[in-house]
Amino acid sequence: MTMKPQMEKSLTIVGDDGILTRQAVELATLVGYTDLQCIQHLDSNASHLFFAIQDRHLRAELIESVNPERLINLIHPTAVVSGTAKLMNNIMVGAQAVVGSNARVASGVIQNALSSIEHDNRIGAHTFLGTGAILCGNVSTGEFVFVGGGATVKPGVTIGAHTTIGTGAVLIKDALDNSTYVGNPARAIGR
Ligand SMILES: CC(C)(COP(=O)(O)OP(=O)(O)OC[C@H]1O[C@@H](n2cnc3c(N)ncnc32)[C@H](O)[C@@H]1OP(=O)(O)O)[C@@H](O)C(=O)NCCC(=O)NCCS
Repeated sequence: MTMKPQMEKSLTIVGDDGILTRQAVELATLVGYTDLQCIQHLDSNASHLFFAIQDRHLRAELIESVNPERLINLIHPTAVVSGTAKLMNNIMVGAQAVVGSNARVASGVIQNALSSIEHDNRIGAHTFLGTGAILCGNVSTGEFVFVGGGATVKPGVTIGAHTTIGTGAVLIKDALDNSTYVGNPARAIGR
């Protein structure tokens, strides 16, 4: 019996040597990309791409500039992603992170290790979840939301676009756009 040659799994990571690039390279290797290259500028020939640039506005611009079919998601093998969740493109899901049932995750979301996007969440594009952040069920975020490590967001809360939730905050009410909230219960510290 002749064995079919194993197809090389190829991926180009566009990165800047920051922590996000290093995490993406590590994760891509872990999930079996054998033909992996990391470059600093977009290569128009690459068929499978992941943008891992620290500056999230630049990252967003690049993500939105290419055909979404070229973009892949990097999901850690120990993450738990519900079969009914829908993930768009260029999303990273870290070790032991959770994406619950019926959650919708827009493009460019970075979900760090041990964080939870619970059931029925609606996560806006380019949102960042720090390590261990918990978004309980039915939480919605606008685009470019930043949730610090270990923060917890009560079920049903909406976080406005471009808003930051500080490390360890407990957000129990809706958060406005373009604001920063810290503490337990979280309060706004300026716009
Ligand atoms: C919320 C945050 C963005 C504020 O940063 P900043 O605008 O530089 O604010 P400052 O450090 O000047 O702090 C402003 C005030 O908020 C308080 N504060 C800041 N962050 C806080 C936090 N996470 N929890 C409680 N209070 C906080 C400060 O003590 C200060 O209070 P004061 O005016 O009474 O002295 C930042 O502190 C933070 O929590 N970043 C998230 C980092 C993170 O989790 N990254 C992900 C890692 S995986």
